[in-house]
Amino acid sequence: MIEVKNVHKYFGTNHVLNDVSAVLEDGKCNLIIGRSGSGKTVLMKCLVGLFTPEQGEILYDGRQFSKGTAAEKKKIRQDIGMVFQGGALFDSINCEENIAFPLKMFTNMSRAEIKERVNYCMDRVNLVNANKLFPSEISGGMKKRVAIARAIALKPKYLFFDEPNSGLDPQTSIVIDELIAEITKEINATTIINTHDMNSVFEMGEKIIYIYKGEKNWEGHYSEIAKSENKELIDFIFASSLLKRVQGTF
Ligand SMILES: Nc1ncnc2c1ncn2[C@@H]1O[C@H](COP(=O)(O)OP(=O)(O)O)[C@@H](O)[C@H]1O
Ligand SMILES: [Mg+2]
Repeated sequence: MIEVKNVHKYFGTNHVLNDVSAVLEDGKCNLIIGRSGSGKTVLMKCLVGLFTPEQGEILYDGRQFSKGTAAEKKKIRQDIGMVFQGGALFDSINCEENIAFPLKMFTNMSRAEIKERVNYCMDRVNLVNANKLFPSEISGGMKKRVAIARAIALKPKYLFFDEPNSGLDPQTSIVIDELIAEITKEINATTIINTHDMNSVFEMGEKIIYIYKGEKNWEGHYSEIAKSENKELIDFIFASSLLKRVQGTF
């Protein structure tokens, strides 16, 4: 469980996160939704320690993170796997080297152990015959699989995905969502996903946190959206769904 307590983040005079509190639950896909520029990526970067909130605190299973010592933060970071928007693979090394990277960087595993773990992770995300291919040689969906394999290499307890479906076609998006949901259950991870994909909201939104202009405006299960009287939330869901329908993908 990750607890976010009264977090504020500023960039100069821009108050980007305003008193955000939320609980992100174990074994679930926790979705952070909201329109572009609402603060989702900044919140995720605060959660993983790439940004430090000016006020408030973040706790990982009761362990202090944002206000923790460097050593405490480092220990928690070892339990975090993250897939950045766009995948962020290293283009100059092949798929298996991309997945091996964190293992070489953060463990003392032998070459044989690394090879075994890399192959396990590639199998787990259903990547076949891709070991020696370079990112430029594979499709967008395969890149996401490599990024997910790399994120799970160190057996994280906490998994973060920033817009995992960006740039993917609707069918591939569904497959990637299902893969993320399966892995979450399998390793009982606390998974946090930033998305504005309405398919994801209705397929995997066990816990949804709606961010509106830097504030947590609503929180709940996707089945509660329909009976919600929250105008901003309904407008957002409706506009996003309509856009998808116009595009012929919803
Ligand atoms: N590194 C940064 N420096 C200054 N402002 C930033 C930075 N990152 C994000 N912002 C600002 O924070 C706000 C929220 O951005 P972001 O979290 O990226 O939105 P979202 O992910 O919901 O689309 C925006 O106004 C953006 O311009
Ligand atoms: Mg973003």
